[in-house]
Amino acid sequence: MAQQEIRRSKELNVKTTFYEPDKLSTFLASKKTLLARGAISQVGLEAKKLGATRALVVTDAGLTKAGLAAEVERILGEAGLEVGMFDGILPEPPSGVIDQCAGVFRQGNYDLCLGLGGGSSLDSAKIVSVLANNPGSVVDYVGLDLVPNKGAPLILVPTTAGTGSEATRVMVFTDDSDNTKKVVLSDFLLPDLAVLDPELTLSVPPAVTADTGMDALVHAIETYVSVNTTPYAEILSLQAIAMIAKHLPQAYAKGSNLLARYNMLLAANLSGSAFASGGLGAVHGLAYILGTEYHMSHGRSNAIMLPHVMSYNLTGNLEKYANIAEAMGEETMGLSPYEAAALSVDAVYSLMDAVNLSAKLGDYGISSEDLPKLVAGGMAQARLFVPNPRDLTEADVEQIYASAF
Ligand SMILES: [Fe+2]
Repeated sequence: MAQQEIRRSKELNVKTTFYEPDKLSTFLASKKTLLARGAISQVGLEAKKLGATRALVVTDAGLTKAGLAAEVERILGEAGLEVGMFDGILPEPPSGVIDQCAGVFRQGNYDLCLGLGGGSSLDSAKIVSVLANNPGSVVDYVGLDLVPNKGAPLILVPTTAGTGSEATRVMVFTDDSDNTKKVVLSDFLLPDLAVLDPELTLSVPPAVTADTGMDALVHAIETYVSVNTTPYAEILSLQAIAMIAKHLPQAYAKGSNLLARYNMLLAANLSGSAFASGGLGAVHGLAYILGTEYHMSHGRSNAIMLPHVMSYNLTGNLEKYANIAEAMGEETMGLSPYEAAALSVDAVYSLMDAVNLSAKLGDYGISSEDLPKLVAGGMAQARLFVPNPRDLTEADVEQIYASAF
């Protein structure tokens, strides 16, 4: 059994536990990351370092319209690269669109894939780079480590602060044949370079800022309390929680606040790296059905379920939830462990209030008559309960959804 010691000194803002030396920990991140206002100006030089001559930019029509795709095209062009553009990526990217994009890449003899956008564009670019050197369709690689060959060089440029896709070896898509979400997991999905440029996130509207920022918070909280967490994941996730609590309301209130955007982009990246290394939990499990049945964004679905799952989970790890409360600015000195842990839920409700998000299912037009459907949807994701700090039965799942009405 691992010995545990929680350091509670006010001066230490990262609380470490004593780890189990025999437990194997893995740390995953992009090979290289650039972070600064204007960092995108380096992307041509970096592409050349990767040996690229022909780059395909993978993005969505919104970013073409906003002029961001043209700006990246210009920077790559000035470095002497030939540039192609695929701006047909859709939300929850359909397999047909991804395969179409992979076809453009293969037939165009491109030697660099650059993903620009939110999670859907980055996830698509990841698998398109892999499909450059592996035959067939995205649907052929669903599952864990089924990709045989490393893909083409890959650069990822997030324009939202949320998914942390640029730091993970996961991609999610919609299989057109049965209209379900499927996942590819492979080390080859990690990029050669991630470019974090907060200027590219300045025009994200408040509601999307809130949804994506809450997704990053859920990644950090779920990873921090996961039974599969690692030293790397714990350190990164607790820091990210503190940064999101402080900077998400600022980025929501004033989109042009560059420092808030900078911190949110960094926090989302740290949360992505943390969950890539330490795993997710029941929030993502119970939120899934809200996306598929009620077409809510991934971030919104997670935000709604977060405080309810946290309330349920508290007893599974009081110390860690107390640490989360402190990281989010709550005063826990002199409180009992249970009181201190419970403050983490209060802190999440305060943050959601600040960014105008309700955690009540009824506020999104979902009727309590749908409870059985929700429970069935939640139970279908039971694999995500394994790393959760408290076990869940079907009755527990029902109780959590009921508490969300
Ligand atoms: Fe997520």
